[in-house]
Amino acid sequence: MKHIGVFTSGGDSPGMNAAIRAVVRTATYNGLKVTGILGGFDGLVNDRTRELGVRDVSNIIQRGGTILRSARCDPFRKEEGREQAAATLQRHGIDGLIAIGGDGTFTGAAALHQEHGVLIIGLPGTIDNDLWGTDHTIGYDTAVNTAVEAIDKIRDTASSHDRLFFVEVMGRDTGFIAMASGLASGAEYVMVPEKLQSIDELVASLKAASKTKSSSIVIVAEGDEEGGAFEIGRKARLSLPDSDIRVTVLGHLQRGGSPSASDRILASRLGVAAVEALISGRKNEMVGMMNDQLVYTPFIKAIGRQKELNSDLFRILAILAT
Ligand code: F6P
Repeated sequence: MKHIGVFTSGGDSPGMNAAIRAVVRTATYNGLKVTGILGGFDGLVNDRTRELGVRDVSNIIQRGGTILRSARCDPFRKEEGREQAAATLQRHGIDGLIAIGGDGTFTGAAALHQEHGVLIIGLPGTIDNDLWGTDHTIGYDTAVNTAVEAIDKIRDTASSHDRLFFVEVMGRDTGFIAMASGLASGAEYVMVPEKLQSIDELVASLKAASKTKSSSIVIVAEGDEEGGAFEIGRKARLSLPDSDIRVTVLGHLQRGGSPSASDRILASRLGVAAVEALISGRKNEMVGMMNDQLVYTPFIKAIGRQKELNSDLFRILAILAT
């Protein structure tokens, strides 16, 4: 292993820059050359790269986003796109790759490994926390803190006006951000895609809360089966005609901002581990952290197994929301 490439792909997440910094510095420390691939898989397909030295990653540990840019790349879903990507790697003499991203990134990485034998190690970079094989993904902690800060502000105005708020947070397929931000902000109810929760149950719970409270907050994960916050708010209104309902969608603000200390540390540790993994001959795996230990999980398992939301958290939230 003499020359590695690094890229970020899919939705950006706070801490990706800290991971890039760790990868570049660890590789250089071990005498490897590093090429940054720009714009995720698109940069591989269309040969958009830049060489990275230790000073190129100065002053980025605290920055949100990704200096390498990111994208969701359609051509890479086809065999032809992946052939072009493998050709780019050959042209540059890149022997190994580090892919920072989520499930889409690892699906592409697994295909590139299978079809062209490219040696790839993945780092879990997504705010969704939906990857098997790591307690937390890089960016999740920051996104939860960002959501909590916003929900605290909504709580102020909700209680001033005696209102019922539906706040939508990100999470297409999972409710990790919804549950964590709901617990941390003292929300009255949390709706997540993993659990079937009917509008009737929600309404019953809100009616019970309204006996002692004049305002309530419901957190809705964007992928909930009953719809997003606007849709759930509309359905709930039918049974709660006297409630003064408002809806807030937090959206992409959850993806930005300076990473928390926890995300910076996770990204730094995993970035070092990813380079060391490639050097030691590991491939086709995501490196994560569980119980403070490094864990290597094959891509297929990291994306194929559903990481479960702890069901006890619903019980805890209900007790604390009384
Ligand atoms: O996967 C991260 C994520 O932020 C999801 O929570 C969200 O559903 C999606 O990306 C939004 O993607 P885009 O930025 O492409 O709209």
